[in-house]
Amino acid sequence: MTAADTASTGTPGTLYSRITDYANRPDPYPLYAELREHGVARQDDGSYLVGTHREIAALLHDPRISSDRRNRTVPDEVQGVPVAFIGRDDPEHERLRAIAMRPFGPPHAPGRVDAMHDEITAIADELIDGLRGRDRIDLVEDFAYPLPVTVICRVLGVPREDEPRFHTWSETLIEGFDPTPGTDPAERQRAALQARTEMGLYLGELAEARRGKPSDDMLSAFVNDPGPDGGFTPTELMATAVLLLIAGHETTVNLITNSALTLLRHPDALQLMRERPELMPGMVEEVLRYEPPVQLLPQRTALTDVEVAGVTVPKGQPLVLVLAAGNRDPLRFRDPDRFDPTRQDNQHLGFGSGVHSCFGAPLARIEGQIALTALIRRLDGPRLLQDPPVYRRSPILRGPRHLPLGVSGITD
Ligand code: HEM
Repeated sequence: MTAADTASTGTPGTLYSRITDYANRPDPYPLYAELREHGVARQDDGSYLVGTHREIAALLHDPRISSDRRNRTVPDEVQGVPVAFIGRDDPEHERLRAIAMRPFGPPHAPGRVDAMHDEITAIADELIDGLRGRDRIDLVEDFAYPLPVTVICRVLGVPREDEPRFHTWSETLIEGFDPTPGTDPAERQRAALQARTEMGLYLGELAEARRGKPSDDMLSAFVNDPGPDGGFTPTELMATAVLLLIAGHETTVNLITNSALTLLRHPDALQLMRERPELMPGMVEEVLRYEPPVQLLPQRTALTDVEVAGVTVPKGQPLVLVLAAGNRDPLRFRDPDRFDPTRQDNQHLGFGSGVHSCFGAPLARIEGQIALTALIRRLDGPRLLQDPPVYRRSPILRGPRHLPLGVSGITD
């Protein structure tokens, strides 16, 4: 059977609904293997799933593939809502990303992320200090969630005490693009639009309050140091700040929790990390491959008919790039289902690739490395109390909702 035959049969048509089915959240990997066998799998709703490394990487670099949902032939509920540069194409995307990058990384602020090393270490240690006297913790609530949230609040210049408000906005927003069957998508998208608007207004006001009073955070930089090309419009600023706050809330938590879960399931790897902490950067890369916090990218659209692995994806049709399937592709990775923190050839897709590749990757990487180093050093006798744990709802941002651990004590 050729890839084209497979794509036109009904067989893989239910694959996406099985991938998004919450019952499969603990272990979607057999479904991803099935997807790779199909090459490209056309779904009953007209979307196309792609799960092989070579094809995903090529599509992420292909200018005929749009990240802007306004290019879809099927009208999209979120049309017209101001979205950030993650949902725009070049040259608009490039312009907005460059403005956002100005206070965050090279070329204008090259040392910004590395300079946060000590601060992030202090945040991690403080959170672990707070666990003294406990013999049972929830790694998510007690550590993996508050750590990146505190960091992104400091980076952006958002008061940490407002966190409960944007926790709710953030959850509502990600539910808006959750493809899990069973809930009314129109209702979820309406709620998401409202959350996005409220969050944008809140962040826009915070930035405005800093105009003329520069401080060392991104919101301040956006209004006080906009750069040679004039910076953001008020709406662009709001959309970008929302994106950064959401990305800081909803992704790194999974990296930390998926790392802890994977190490506790692989005692040899955990022991290796105890003995050779210098392997930590490679361990984090391996988790980004093996259990990626962002499993799939659901919002690409073909701008013209595009051939993918022998299948013609028609103009205007949605493309779903399943990064987590590409990360386990045996044509790209040796022994892909093995977790190997010493893996060398590890060009995973965990941060995407191409023009939209993750903006926050340097920050997420050091957060993950610092968090796991601190946990391994300071948690005495950690053990999983529930395996598999209860997962978050989203098949896109996949990770445990809670990770109950037993601990024998906390080391200084
Ligand atoms: C482990 C944590 C993280 C993972 C796995 C992750 C993953 C990703 C992925 C896969 C993309 C590509 C999206 C696409 O191509 O459509 C992306 C884009 C992006 N990420 Fe991250 N991310 C993480 C943390 C962060 C953090 C902490 C920030 C903020 C500081 C951030 C900000 C962004 C932004 C702004 C984009 C859009 C880039 C663009 O469109 O040019 N991410 N991320």
